[in-house]
Amino acid sequence: MKKKIFSGVQPTGNLHLGNYLGAIKNFVELDKNNENECIFCVVDLHAITVNQDPRELKKNIYETVATFIASGINPKKSIIFNQSQVSAHSEAAWILGCTARMGWLNRMTQFKEKAGKDKEKASIGLYSYPVLMAADILLYDATHVPVGDDQKQHLELCRDIAQKFNNDFRVDELKIPEPLIKKDFSRIMSLKDGLKKMSKSELSDLSRINLTDEKDQIINKIKKAKTDPLPMPSNVNELDQRPEAKNLIGIFSSLSGMTLEKSVEKFSGENFSKFKEHLSQVLVDKIAPISEEIKKLINEKSYIEEILKKGCQKADEIASKKLKKIQKIVGF
Ligand code: AMP
Ligand code: TRP
Repeated sequence: MKKKIFSGVQPTGNLHLGNYLGAIKNFVELDKNNENECIFCVVDLHAITVNQDPRELKKNIYETVATFIASGINPKKSIIFNQSQVSAHSEAAWILGCTARMGWLNRMTQFKEKAGKDKEKASIGLYSYPVLMAADILLYDATHVPVGDDQKQHLELCRDIAQKFNNDFRVDELKIPEPLIKKDFSRIMSLKDGLKKMSKSELSDLSRINLTDEKDQIINKIKKAKTDPLPMPSNVNELDQRPEAKNLIGIFSSLSGMTLEKSVEKFSGENFSKFKEHLSQVLVDKIAPISEEIKKLINEKSYIEEILKKGCQKADEIASKKLKKIQKIVGF
């Protein structure tokens, strides 16, 4: 059976190594497999759940598309589009919001993290964010959704919404999607704190490798990355007590394609500084060409616009048909 892949990335700037290893690298592998039908969405409606500068947002939408292509997604094969231009997403989100329960949304940890202490001041959009995400996925009958580990709970919610909708209306219209989350290192941590997720919003740029970083920046950030005072671990079990070592070896292993066990064995007992030279090298080999390509592509505005235009047309065709079916089921 053909896999239908759907995933989204927010155009909020600073796409980083976590986005790459947790999501985009998998998109590229899925896109290369001719068995799959892939749709990759720049989720601009999700982005405005927190404040955005309109000019920056526009720039970031283009940059996210450029990052997809620079990373190796083939726009001739996969659909690339931005969410706001396909109105079925907002419309389906409203209907599904009437299926989703408050109790379910109240459990979402991402809302709690992003809203912070003052929940009263968070936008309604930030709260209902996972319902819109469910609409994104369900409109395309996606069978598989590649995401980083942090999105697992949202996907479970999407499955619950689909199941409840089907039960409430006694239909089999919404397909229940499967998450595709890499087993090893689906969560890349900050270079400054091995217990904190690598994130776009972290103030210190030294905490992450951006996909637009150049060779020297990458080398400098790895040099300054936090470690512990011990030599490199000599077995995998040690890693659980050593979050920074675990994160850095994990990054090395993901990028080099070497298993975690082999990677630990290779550097066992060495100084961190020696290991960091190797880590910088694999990062530079992988990220610097992507960074160069992104910078080239963001200047080719009409090329990016053409991709989005075609992508939106194709996405709209699929999504509006599905929305009509959903509307009919609820009695509109
Ligand atoms: P976002 O930028 O929040 O839209 O995330 C886009 C994709 O990157 C999602 O699939 C996330 O799960 C993934 N992602 C974001 N941060 C990380 C991280 N630190 N480690 C692994 N995956 C991540
Ligand atoms: N919420 C996801 C994130 O922040 C982005 C997203 C929106 C998404 N819609 C989606 C991911 C649909 C997968 C499928 O990372």
